[in-house]
Amino acid sequence: MKKSEYTLLAEEYSSIEELNTNDAWLLSEARAVTQFAYAPYSNFNVGAVAKLINSEIVTGTNQENASFPAGICAERVLLSSVSSQHPGIGIEAIAISYNNTKGSSNTPISPCGICRQSIVEYQQRFKKPIRIILSGMEGKVIIIENAAQLLPLAFSSKSLM
Ligand code: THU
Repeated sequence: MKKSEYTLLAEEYSSIEELNTNDAWLLSEARAVTQFAYAPYSNFNVGAVAKLINSEIVTGTNQENASFPAGICAERVLLSSVSSQHPGIGIEAIAISYNNTKGSSNTPISPCGICRQSIVEYQQRFKKPIRIILSGMEGKVIIIENAAQLLPLAFSSKSLM
């Protein structure tokens, strides 16, 4: 038996002001698109914005439904749009923000388990690390340079061979 450690290395910034221009711009877009979320049940409006390898920008927001399981997270709305509208193009970076209209929005959130699975597969398809930028409407920012770190021991297509 041996023990293996799977680590997540993240950069932490106290605010958007500390980011480089590209990251700050992408995060401000993610904050802005939270207004397009449809989240009347949770009041938790999530915005996700991707910068593609060809510099195109694509956005996604969470879309809820009265039949709760029919709702879909901003990250998977985003990935579906990227894959459908820009087929064959990898993602360079994704910024994710949220506006909790009934609470506070000053602590970064990170993608749920299903979204991590989807992001990691997108990264594997295009063999290009996806930079993940996480923050609320204000305050601390967390940056993870490689989305694979979000899901150690991820299930992947390799297991299906
Ligand atoms: N949600 C996202 O869109 N992304 C996340 O990373 C976490 C949660 C959505 C799902 C649901 O519409 C609402 O936020 C509350 O869970």
